[in-house]
Amino acid sequence: MRKRIFSGVQPTGNIHIGNYLGALKQFVELQEDNECLYCIVDLHSITVPQASQELKKHILDVAALYLAVGLDPKKSLIFVQSDVPAHSELAWILMCNSYTGELSRMTQFKQKNRGQASAPAGLFTYPVLMAADILLYDSQVVPVGNDQKQHIELTRDIALRVNNTYGETFVVPEGRYLKAGARIMALDDPTSKMSKSAENIHSRISLLDDPAKIKKSIMRATTDSEGSVRYDLAEKPGLSNLLNIYSAFSGQSVDSLVEQYAGGGYGVLKKDLVDVIVSNLEPIQQHFNDIRHSSELISALSEGAAKAKEIAQKTMVRVHDRFGLGIRRAGK
Ligand code: TYM
Repeated sequence: MRKRIFSGVQPTGNIHIGNYLGALKQFVELQEDNECLYCIVDLHSITVPQASQELKKHILDVAALYLAVGLDPKKSLIFVQSDVPAHSELAWILMCNSYTGELSRMTQFKQKNRGQASAPAGLFTYPVLMAADILLYDSQVVPVGNDQKQHIELTRDIALRVNNTYGETFVVPEGRYLKAGARIMALDDPTSKMSKSAENIHSRISLLDDPAKIKKSIMRATTDSEGSVRYDLAEKPGLSNLLNIYSAFSGQSVDSLVEQYAGGGYGVLKKDLVDVIVSNLEPIQQHFNDIRHSSELISALSEGAAKAKEIAQKTMVRVHDRFGLGIRRAGK
């Protein structure tokens, strides 16, 4: 049965293979048999200061990457979050149904705030905006990486709370996590996740990196001194991360990769992994360059926003009705 799917990516630059293997790859698979909405969540990105020209560029970069990895605007709605004002409106309503206690338990907030006494309120309430994104479209499934699990749980809690208090209002969504790509770790420190904002560019492979950069980052990736190829997340997190990346890109199971490389050192595996990544990213980069400055991209975004607005409007009429807000009536 077709399901309503929603997900989003922040336009903060350096979209990397973690974003691809954890999220974007799922987006493409899901669009074949479902009703999908994929958002560029620019309002989320301003929880930390952004230079306006950079942000504009990054929004279009993510949009172009969406198309470049295989999203088809005829099958999926692709749009920019701030083009649909109902995201912010619903976020406010949900904020009034969220608790500071639950928000202060969010590990991403704790990490980003790094224990400072005062933080931008938007950084603190960020997960509620994410809940609004999801609930606004009656989304049933949310394909994301593991790092978003806590936010999805919070979204479910808020939806259930509102439904219990005000009557059936929201669909309670489920997260969808891929086995191999759900948590790609940093190449220089396999104990932390690969991130867009890490200072060391060799900690990640960005989708637009050239082959020389990819080679450099993989060849210098942290492993261990044992020298034998086996999958062991606790003892060999660096090598296991490389095996996960290899498996997610090639479709080959980790077990069969371990068997294939068992006799050799890490160098051979790394060299082959470079080839696998380069051959997967090349067509994406080619497609990206073809469409990044095209009118096709802009029209996909404006058509996506117009259709998303229609769906959002229906939900907001229902929400206003349940909460007793304004003078709009259900059905109008
Ligand atoms: P963002 O922009 O940080 O990341 C986009 C997607 O990539 C996944 N991801 C990873 N997956 C595997 N390994 C990694 N190292 C890795 N790093 C990131 C993320 O889990 C995400 O799926 N809050 C979200 C954006 C958002 C959203 C939403 C997502 C806003 N509203 C509604 C779903 C539904 C975020 O910051 O993702």
